[in-house]
Amino acid sequence: MKLVRLIYASRLHEPLNKANIQQILAASERNNSRNGVTGYLCISPNYALQCLEGEREDVNALYNKIASDPRHAGATLLRYTEPWRRLFPEWHMGYSTELSSAAPESSRWRDGKGFNPYLVESDLIENVIEELCERTERTELRA
Ligand SMILES: Cc1cc2nc3c(=O)[nH]c(=O)nc-3n(C[C@H](O)[C@H](O)[C@H](O)COP(=O)(O)O)c2cc1C
Repeated sequence: MKLVRLIYASRLHEPLNKANIQQILAASERNNSRNGVTGYLCISPNYALQCLEGEREDVNALYNKIASDPRHAGATLLRYTEPWRRLFPEWHMGYSTELSSAAPESSRWRDGKGFNPYLVESDLIENVIEELCERTERTELRA
């Protein structure tokens, strides 16, 4: 078993509505729990930032499926590593809508639409995503 961690950013064509979000979380619960994939998904009205952790083949296949989902575009790998442990072992897909408001203040990661995950340096993205998770954990993350 080779554990991998994949982090990507994408652009939402339009803000995800409740029904979209419920669909995504239901699919995550169904598929990720079957495959042992865990992770964290954070969205703003404009962007998605997601971390997928699990067996390499499962994570790669899931990423390819997610990347072709018409609800977003421009899925771009920010980081791909073989870590010794998972950052998010307890969620099949932890979730927050607060990407913009909970993101670190750094102005170099902001554009006219607020926090832009594409601008975060690869070696800092794990810290950013962990911080996002900590800041939003108590509100609506627990799946
Ligand atoms: C931003 C985003 C994140 C997603 N994350 C997941 C995920 O973690 N797991 C998953 O199974 N589907 C995820 N989806 C949904 C998939 O693209 C796809 O619609 C779903 O897996 C189809 O499920 P099915 O093969 O069981 O019909 C995500 C979609 C979007 C737009």
